[in-house]
Amino acid sequence: MEKKNIDWSNLGFGYVQTDMRYVSNFKDGAWDEGVLTEDAQVTISECAGVLQYAQTVFEGLKAYTTEDGHIVCFRPDLNADRMADSAQRLIMPVFPKDRFIDAVTKVVAANAAFVPPYGSGATLYLRPYMFGTNPVIGVKPATEYQFRIFCTPVGPYFKGGVKPLTLCVSDFDRAAPNGTGHIKAGLNYAMSMYAITKAHENGFDENMYLDASTRTKVEETGGANFLFVTKDGKVVTPKSNSILPSITRRSLLYVAKEYLGLEVEEREIYLSELDDMAECGLCGTAAVISPVGKIVDHGREICLPSGMTEMGPITKKLYETLTGIQMGRIEAPEGWIHVIK
Ligand code: PLP
Ligand code: COI
Repeated sequence: MEKKNIDWSNLGFGYVQTDMRYVSNFKDGAWDEGVLTEDAQVTISECAGVLQYAQTVFEGLKAYTTEDGHIVCFRPDLNADRMADSAQRLIMPVFPKDRFIDAVTKVVAANAAFVPPYGSGATLYLRPYMFGTNPVIGVKPATEYQFRIFCTPVGPYFKGGVKPLTLCVSDFDRAAPNGTGHIKAGLNYAMSMYAITKAHENGFDENMYLDASTRTKVEETGGANFLFVTKDGKVVTPKSNSILPSITRRSLLYVAKEYLGLEVEEREIYLSELDDMAECGLCGTAAVISPVGKIVDHGREICLPSGMTEMGPITKKLYETLTGIQMGRIEAPEGWIHVIK
């Protein structure tokens, strides 16, 4: 199979239209059989539930070319589970897990020419999503839905690749206690647009959101969880009901403990503790692990000892082990790698 003529090494995190995507419709209480299609356009009612009341959820996962030339996905079963949780929270039908994994497999296989080559630094990002399609004008759940998966080849999420980021402690809240912070719903991202635009205008790469009720504890950023390394080498990550349960973070905690023999802890992390941290990273499918060099809390600068030029040493080991597993250089735990072809 011949690869597309794309400058893989210079891709950013953007949309490139590929050949095929998957579509299935839910109507009269059931999903249809689903198809792969060349049609990249969506046509829905002007009054569709998604357009009026933002009834939409999504996922993000990647396909990789391994060192020995296979195409694989990383833990798609966990994306299926999380999408089911997201859908249920917004009173949407669940797209069955076996069908989710089958659709992922079909989309990647049909777009194999867009899967970046091994060693290029790029990957194929998949975006499963679902939205209410029938007319809804009173506030209530739609009765008809569309599930789709498209894919796009991507490079690093943050411009500058692995250059450490500068974050700003946000005055805006991302998620309410007992709200929707733990699911991957479009509405969580819509309400972060103002905060991220302001952060960028003020010269920051991202926001650090705090817990909405006390504003003393670290939550997450707009699109990634936090991972810290303490000065005594422990890997710690915030525990909260209002952050997205990142698959990358869960995988990294396992890697830290089982592959690197590090002590790991998931617990509440106070803003006031950050001076005691040696390293900080943002972890997620898009972010992989992006190092943080500085966090600015209303003029108070918290400079991570790992500095502004490189990833900290433990963050780097975590990054290399995780990407090694994803790209087939390091043996994966049972069930983590889904081989497409
Ligand atoms: N937190 C938020 C708000 C996200 O959007 C994402 C991205 O999916 C993550 C965390 C990281 O989750 P994952 O590692 O499953 O991609
Ligand atoms: C992902 O990492 O898959 C996400 O959905 C994050 C998003 C901000 C791109």
